[in-house]
Amino acid sequence: MIIAVDGPAASGKGTIAKALANHYGLPHMDTGMLYRSVALALWRFGGNAGNEFEALRAVEGIEQIDPGDEELRSETIGKLASKVSAYPSVREALLERQHGFARQEGGAVLDGRDIGTVICPDASAKLFVTATPEIRAQRRHKELTGRGVDAHYDDILIDIRARDERDAGRDAAPLVQAKDADLLDTSDLTIERAVQRAIALVEARL
Ligand code: C5P
Repeated sequence: MIIAVDGPAASGKGTIAKALANHYGLPHMDTGMLYRSVALALWRFGGNAGNEFEALRAVEGIEQIDPGDEELRSETIGKLASKVSAYPSVREALLERQHGFARQEGGAVLDGRDIGTVICPDASAKLFVTATPEIRAQRRHKELTGRGVDAHYDDILIDIRARDERDAGRDAAPLVQAKDADLLDTSDLTIERAVQRAIALVEARL
């Protein structure tokens, strides 16, 4: 059983994917962390995100990145991740890890931007999780200020819109709802309700 969860930044897809993995007893992969790791590796060696070759070279550095590193979750690295992830060669270099994870016995839950469209087109269930940019900016703002980060709502909203545009507008694996994915708009839902709804949508596909 493979569950694909896609959607834009701060839509709630990560929380929903984790809850589904927990509910079905499946391993979970946050594929955004792969691109964030490439971005952080590139940042550390002082590489240029405008250069595809340098971005590709940074893929080799991801084993050295500590998954618990707080910098991975920063907006700077998220923004850089959305730049390096637009390169087809970078996406290609990360493909096998994702396929290997998805092919585990028993199945897996993967979340990202292109799981239902490119990585696991044959997934048992596909969710496209979304929310309005304003709600997503509010959530990100709350999360950041909660962690003691000095963040401004207006800046976050601008960043979220720019990231949406870049992720949806690129040629390589753009952010788009798969034809056979169920749409889950979390704008007016609490986390609990969104998770309940996600489980119900998955159940209907099994
Ligand atoms: O989901 P998260 O915000 O951590 O992802 C960071 C960036 O990585 C996204 O903005 C997107 O550009 C890229 N990404 C991607 N494909 C995925 C997951 C993330 O292109 N499957």
